[in-house]
Amino acid sequence: MVPVSVFLLLLLSFVVVVCAQSNGTRISTGSSLVAGSFSVQAWRSPSDDFAFGFRNVDNNNDDLFLLAIWFYKVPENNIVWFAKEKDNNPVFAPRGSKVELTATSGLVLRNGNGGEIWKSEPITASVAFGSMKDTGNFVLVDSINGSIWESFSYPTDTLLPTQKLEVDGVLSSRKSQGNFSLGKFQFRLLRDGNAVLNTINLRSGFPYDAYYISNTHDSASSQNSGRQVIFDEQGFLYVLKRNGEQSNITQPSVGNPVEAYYYKTTMNFDGVLSVSSYPKGIDGDANGSWKDLFRIPDNICMAMRGELSSGICGYNSICTLNDDQRPRCKCPTGYSFMDLNDTYSNCVANIPQICEEGAQNSTDDLYSLQELPNTDWPMLDYERYNPFNAEECKKACLLDCLCVVAVYRDNTCWKKKLPLSNGREDSKEISVSFLKLRRNTSSTGKPQDGFPIPEGKKNQQTLIVVISVLLGCSLFVILILASMICWGFISCNKKKLAAGDIQPSESFESNNLCQFTYKELREATNGFKEELGRGSCGIVYKGRIKTGVVAVKQLDRVFEDSEKEFRTEVNVIGQTHHKNLVRLLGYCNEGRYRILVYEFMSNGTLADLLFGDRKPSWNLRTQIAYGIARGLMYLHEECDKQIIHCDIKPQNVLLDEHYNAKIADFGLAKLLKMDQSRTETGIRGTKGYVAPDWFRSAQVTAKVDVYSFGVQLLEIICCRRNGDMNDFEGGQELLVDWAYDCFQQGRLDVLVEEDLEAMDDMRRLETFVMVAIWCLQEDPSQRPTMKRVTWMLEGIAPVSVPPNPNPFTSNC
Ligand SMILES: *[C@@H]1O[C@H](CO)[C@@H](O)[C@H](O)[C@H]1NC(C)=O
Ligand SMILES: *[C@@H]1O[C@H](CO)[C@@H](O)[C@H](O)[C@H]1NC(C)=O
Ligand SMILES: *[C@@H]1O[C@H](CO)[C@@H](O)[C@H](O)[C@H]1NC(C)=O
Ligand SMILES: *[C@@H]1O[C@H](CO)[C@@H](O)[C@H](O)[C@H]1NC(C)=O
Ligand SMILES: *[C@@H]1O[C@H](CO)[C@@H](O)[C@H](O)[C@H]1NC(C)=O
Ligand SMILES: *[C@@H]1O[C@H](CO)[C@@H](O)[C@H](O)[C@H]1NC(C)=O
Ligand SMILES: *[C@@H]1O[C@H](CO)[C@@H](O)[C@H](O)[C@H]1NC(C)=O
Ligand SMILES: *[C@@H]1O[C@H](CO)[C@@H](O)[C@H](O)[C@H]1NC(C)=O
Repeated sequence: MVPVSVFLLLLLSFVVVVCAQSNGTRISTGSSLVAGSFSVQAWRSPSDDFAFGFRNVDNNNDDLFLLAIWFYKVPENNIVWFAKEKDNNPVFAPRGSKVELTATSGLVLRNGNGGEIWKSEPITASVAFGSMKDTGNFVLVDSINGSIWESFSYPTDTLLPTQKLEVDGVLSSRKSQGNFSLGKFQFRLLRDGNAVLNTINLRSGFPYDAYYISNTHDSASSQNSGRQVIFDEQGFLYVLKRNGEQSNITQPSVGNPVEAYYYKTTMNFDGVLSVSSYPKGIDGDANGSWKDLFRIPDNICMAMRGELSSGICGYNSICTLNDDQRPRCKCPTGYSFMDLNDTYSNCVANIPQICEEGAQNSTDDLYSLQELPNTDWPMLDYERYNPFNAEECKKACLLDCLCVVAVYRDNTCWKKKLPLSNGREDSKEISVSFLKLRRNTSSTGKPQDGFPIPEGKKNQQTLIVVISVLLGCSLFVILILASMICWGFISCNKKKLAAGDIQPSESFESNNLCQFTYKELREATNGFKEELGRGSCGIVYKGRIKTGVVAVKQLDRVFEDSEKEFRTEVNVIGQTHHKNLVRLLGYCNEGRYRILVYEFMSNGTLADLLFGDRKPSWNLRTQIAYGIARGLMYLHEECDKQIIHCDIKPQNVLLDEHYNAKIADFGLAKLLKMDQSRTETGIRGTKGYVAPDWFRSAQVTAKVDVYSFGVQLLEIICCRRNGDMNDFEGGQELLVDWAYDCFQQGRLDVLVEEDLEAMDDMRRLETFVMVAIWCLQEDPSQRPTMKRVTWMLEGIAPVSVPPNPNPFTSNC
């Protein structure tokens, strides 16, 4: 097979120009990387195990990047280091930021305007070059090969094999798995020689009592105290003492040899320090995952101690261990999380317990006691009774208006008041808790049975609640603003509102879509006069409303009898916000009319651009491909409910005035019943773009979009239409088959018709073609996910040589 070997040679010749030495990739001074610019990719270690570069980590904002080091071949949880501030918070670099390796200051990170936002410090000598090592360490070296600065000396939340933590060294957790902001857990080596786990006060940084101590402090002789925490090359974690002795933190692990597994030690966001491994050599979407080999402490819920701080979970919360031995926080019955989206936030009682003046005792009719077996709040008692039986204990709490919970164990009763901390539920816990809950008397309307709330006070309370809701709930403010915008500027239903017969709640959905009448839209489009295009679901007209030009899409008659589904789906579409998706502004759902109003895209469709007279530049084409990939990734992975587009093609990608690609018509597939959409061709799924499994399998998965994206990616690369038979030399082939043949023969130049710009960017061209062929695999399970596709295109994950997409239909 001459062609294949020629191709492999070609491939090798494009692999990093810099040469590998002493198991590190040499980065010369003057080299730089730019955040969000894919022309310069990451700096990779010789083995490709690690990469250094920019990573977008915020699902809601793809313009913010971390300067990071990651496991290049591991698809999930792969970031092991990132540039951070002195206070351990990550440095977020906006798109366009540039990191440059300089001789005088080492790595310097500047934002797009040239302002310095981070640099490697301290740099004491002139830097000769940088080196990305196979260990995951990025090292700056001086002219006599001495290390001046290394990323291993400034760990974030992870240690890699051969990395050490010196005295005063810290690993700090993140806020959550996906939020890299500073979290409250630390792993530290203290000056007294102990390695500890502790929480901190996030405002002041004050460390609270340790919940794990290595016991490597010897008060009699400092020689026996810990000097370093070492994560050795075998993935074994221990404290090295000054006298050379080892004090093991983990046990030697069996069955996961370092040759076959990646290792890391992580200070996890949930407070557990773990040593975990990931099998090497698993590529793509295959089944690998990080597996905990050791967790410290064994049972974090039971390990927490100390009088200060809330513990692992928030105040009034209860910590329990999941099956995977990781903690989970829950609120007791009758309590809810203050931030419903954050299970680490504090819990508050749904009905607050109030101590009234002159009423020292609380009573049965106002309060009930809930028994929580195996549950304890171990700290901060204010009363203790012994000997007491359980009944006496319950009664003591019930009748005491300060008491919130009574804990009972071994004939002893402890009373506790708010806020409760370090709550835990565990089968090893022998305490029983009696939680006092105020009964919901609002239905009977007779709270005055027990404690009459003075009228004035009641009003005061209501007022405070209203004000704090108004001030605190920014969502509410946003909603008001949003509806004001809809109301005032777009002025949908303006006449009716003026007439007062429509409530705002009817005209504005919660996602601030505007509802238009058919009449309004007819006026806006001048009687549906100027046609912008005919899509698969209907005709699009140009229109003008108060805020500007819009695209008005009148849906086909197929949608006529689906009023309720229409409303549901429109709301789903209205909740999507991504810069690579065409924004839905409003809709009309009146009688038999189903009309959608979108933002107007001044540069037309991608089809017009690609297949028009003037071929767009390679650079623009690649930017468009990145945009579509990101938009699809968002639809597949980041929406509340996954949205499968089902009709990805260049006619459904629009370009705004800056030529940003935006996907149109998403969310409409759901509106058509599936069998209907499959048989009535021309409505859903366009010939040439539809995956073979679309016709075969009962269930349509997101992988059909991946296939269509693959076709489109080839069209973007070649500026040719798939299925445009006459365009091709042989005259008989589909673009897809032709592209694979060219690829196999190492003739990528033919694919781009010797486009010089693309030829100069051969590495990326090759990446794009290989990714496209992966997407076009006949077997859907072989196709990567859109997330993986995006990562491969951006160069933050490796691409291997793809197999023949149609193994059963050979073209030879
Ligand atoms: C490079 O790695 C190989 C095997 O991983 C090792 O034997 C060799 O000593 C390393 N060379 C240097 C200079 O570290
Ligand atoms: C530094 O390392 C390079 C490459 O490994 C080597 O060629 C050079 O001799 C070394 N210089 C010194 C002073 O050790
Ligand atoms: C991460 O957490 C911080 C602190 O709670 C918060 O301010 C920030 O908005 C979060 N970021 C994301 C992307 O959720
Ligand atoms: C500590 O680990 C080493 C292996 O690295 C082992 O030989 C030794 O027995 C362990 N010590 C203890 C006390 O478990
Ligand atoms: C993937 O993992 C699941 C559970 O972890 C296992 O049941 C399944 O066999 C694995 N599949 C492959 C292809 O390894
Ligand atoms: C929780 O998250 C969802 C979606 O991420 C958001 O719409 C909602 O407003 C959030 N709720 C709160 C209370 O923050
Ligand atoms: C409060 O409770 C104590 C002890 O249970 C009882 O002696 C006292 O009479 C009660 N006071 C009132 C006002 O009910
Ligand atoms: C109390 O009961 C009323 C009427 O049943 C109900 O509307 C209200 O939501 C309840 N309050 C709480 C906090 O459960």
